[in-house]
Amino acid sequence: MPNYHIRTYGCQMNDRDSESLACLLDALGHTRAESEETADILLFNTCSVRDQAERKALGKIGILKKLKRDRPDLVIGVFGCMAQNLGRSLLDKLPHLDFVAGTDRLHEIPELIAEALDGRNGLVSTDTSEDMPTVLTGHERGQVTGYVSVMRGCNQFCTYCIVPYTRGSERSREPEDIVREIQTLADGGTKEVLLLGQNITAYGLAEARESGALDPQASPFANLLHAVHEVSGIERIRFTSPHVRYMNDAFVDAVCSLPKVCKGFHIPFQSGSDRILKLMNRGYTATEYLDRIKAIRARLPDCSFSTDVIVGFPTETEEDFEATRSVMQKVGYDMAYIFKYSERTGTKAAERLEDTVPEDVKLARNQILLTDLETGAEARNQACVGQERQVLVTGPSKRNASRWSGRTDANKVCIFEPTPGMQPGDLVRIAITHTTSHSLFGNVM
Ligand code: SAH
Ligand code: SF4
Ligand code: F3S
Repeated sequence: MPNYHIRTYGCQMNDRDSESLACLLDALGHTRAESEETADILLFNTCSVRDQAERKALGKIGILKKLKRDRPDLVIGVFGCMAQNLGRSLLDKLPHLDFVAGTDRLHEIPELIAEALDGRNGLVSTDTSEDMPTVLTGHERGQVTGYVSVMRGCNQFCTYCIVPYTRGSERSREPEDIVREIQTLADGGTKEVLLLGQNITAYGLAEARESGALDPQASPFANLLHAVHEVSGIERIRFTSPHVRYMNDAFVDAVCSLPKVCKGFHIPFQSGSDRILKLMNRGYTATEYLDRIKAIRARLPDCSFSTDVIVGFPTETEEDFEATRSVMQKVGYDMAYIFKYSERTGTKAAERLEDTVPEDVKLARNQILLTDLETGAEARNQACVGQERQVLVTGPSKRNASRWSGRTDANKVCIFEPTPGMQPGDLVRIAITHTTSHSLFGNVM
């Protein structure tokens, strides 16, 4: 069977999709190529969230034109969000493509490959579907952390965002299926799960609404956390991304009371200005956002937060930006992804609002937030010196293999000397000796 290579761009959901596709292809008898250069089938899982993400993939796939001319048998396929977003028009830009598969067509990729191997090319499959294929539950063996998609799509339509168009509407998996998948992971030695959904706190809500059982006091996602908590062998549960709109008291109670739920929370806020939040259609004010942070912190004083922020949204003034800066300072994030606004064709913001903030202003605002973040994170890490942390061991550190790394419950990277017999997946206690803004360093106790 011809061998394949998958290159993945974009978010953790794409990482997960690539993993499940690889398992599907393996089960059908394909093998993995040692490198991109030796592959018979080249697959690209793409992202459309910012212009740069699209340009990166288009550039990379564009330069394969010559290779395809030299090796006409080579199969090149594009899937994921950019494939869904640009569809057939991708063939105009990249006529050497064998196929384009949309985000609901992952399970069809083996057939598209077979057709391409038969000599058909320029295939496009981007229909959306309500079904959730069950063939996509495979995982790599022996991973300490397993990624599990609990839902697909997003119904929020934040005005800047392409995701609802590329990933379709929200569809949640049955809790039993999710728990079964996680139990299989735990049986294979996985210790931590990262539950994935673009709008994960809305898990199960579309279905509840449809069946007339929507209860604003309840949280199907909190119920799911309780169910996952029961899985023996799983020691830690993380999730991304929650939306403040659905962080009701049932949610706060679950994350604060379930010991396996990690105390590092990624809670995107996007902007600290209520005027901008409204233009973004985020559905909360800065005060409401801070109130949820306070509610969690009141019960978990040592927890940590990370976030996503956009600078330079259309019409963002210096004052709006200062409001964002102030929220960042009030919360004290350990980590943040800070993005410069990127206009996406087809979104409401692109249709209605001009991209008014100049690139150099976006860049300057981005830099200011990054500097604030580094300073704050460094001070908070410094305060950990002399304390102990429980660390889930990942394995040899990337930079220096004689040292090992792991993550604390609050998701901070911790570097230490391994002890004899130490294995990835071990939970160890580390005494913190020194820190930087990014990492903690210490000794096994
Ligand atoms: N569903 C998640 C995030 C999805 S996309 C949430 O709502 O929190 C990841 C991040 O990319 C977003 O949080 C946002 O900060 C950023 N993003 C999305 N669209 C963008 C755009 N058009 N320009 C710049 N950043 C964008
Ligand atoms: Fe995009 Fe908003 Fe949905 Fe997140 S919640 S994926 S930012 S539309
Ligand atoms: Fe990108 Fe799609 Fe993820 S647009 S950020 S790969 S959901």
